[in-house]
Amino acid sequence: MPVVTIMPAGKKLNAPSGTPLLEIVLKSEEGIGHKCGGKASCGTCHIFVTEGRKSLTKIDRTENERLDSVVGVGSKSRLACQARLGEEDITLEILGFASGL
Ligand code: FES
Repeated sequence: MPVVTIMPAGKKLNAPSGTPLLEIVLKSEEGIGHKCGGKASCGTCHIFVTEGRKSLTKIDRTENERLDSVVGVGSKSRLACQARLGEEDITLEILGFASGL
């Protein structure tokens, strides 16, 4: 099972491939916004994936459109509720400036 490292706390969790990153972060008990409950409509679960992002599920149109409206988006941005874990270890960063928090 891949290892997910959650920054800035540095917590490490194992999760099966296919698990939404939001579910993993919530399990870690790190604080993350998720106002819409994972429907890609609020943008509060915006994270950076700093390592292993190519192994995640691809960004679909819905996620892409939502990210377009989020403050601070960059090349490492994902919505934690939409990105699912692949087969490789990843490192993600919870952001303090996600819109709507
Ligand atoms: S929880 Fe709302 S966009 Fe991810």
